[in-house]
Amino acid sequence: MSAQILDGKAFAATIRSRVAAHVDRLKDAHGLTPGLAVVVVGEDPASQVYVRSKGRQTVDCGMESFTHRLAADTPQGTLLALVKSLNDAPEVHGILVQLPLPEHIDTSLVLDAISPDKDVDGFHVSNVGRLAAGQDAMVPCTPLGCLMMLREHHGSLAGLDAVVLGRSNIVGKPMAQLLLGESCTVTIAHSRTKNLPDVVGRADILVAAVGRPRMIPGAWIKPGATVIDVGINRVPDGDRDRLVGDVDFDSAEKVAGAITPVPGGVGPMTIACLLANTLTACCRANGLRPPEGLTA
Ligand code: GUN
Repeated sequence: MSAQILDGKAFAATIRSRVAAHVDRLKDAHGLTPGLAVVVVGEDPASQVYVRSKGRQTVDCGMESFTHRLAADTPQGTLLALVKSLNDAPEVHGILVQLPLPEHIDTSLVLDAISPDKDVDGFHVSNVGRLAAGQDAMVPCTPLGCLMMLREHHGSLAGLDAVVLGRSNIVGKPMAQLLLGESCTVTIAHSRTKNLPDVVGRADILVAAVGRPRMIPGAWIKPGATVIDVGINRVPDGDRDRLVGDVDFDSAEKVAGAITPVPGGVGPMTIACLLANTLTACCRANGLRPPEGLTA
């Protein structure tokens, strides 16, 4: 038996069209256009690609896109002043500072300078706390995308055993909080976890976010489990590189009930959720309820 493939590319397109439809309604009914400001410091090629893609998709959804490109040697004070001006700008509902930042900049200081209401990355310490406390929060985009895929596939997740591999602030920890919010029994496993194959083998839902290419073989996976592979790892393949996940797809898809491919699984969902978060931030800033299905 082979697993159902969870097509993140197609689902992300559905999310984007739901966002675009709601943006149209906001414009017509309230004269509001959601706006997303993206700040990128330096010339990191991967960041430049992401930022271009974010800008294009923002405009395609009918929202305003504001991109700020700063030189790699920009002083921290200049970046903080820009963040403050974006916090105060009424046409900006979401702010994203692209990571990684150059080494001379204190990343936590910058992220916590973003107004929590405009923090569409969900990295501000107050959004981290709100998520943990089960309050309305801005939720990090990658785990939000994983949650949307899981809800779409399963409906209710209540009572399922969920294992999150990886404990990063960006994916592992918020993912575990979201699954707890869905009434899963949640285990966070990491590089020091004992008997990892046994822990993985208990998972009805496995979310892998460790950044190690093909680390999890199919033999560890519980038959019928749903596998969400967040890993995007570049490995040599002949004379070019190719992208693989943290899960060994070929062996896992023979065992799992459903699995996300790499590429084309979780990756496309991340920007779709950034657009959803920008819409959510705009609605909340104006005392409106965000649309169903686009929030945690
Ligand atoms: N760099 C890579 N992924 C991300 C992300 O999700 N948010 C930000 N701000 N920077 C990133």
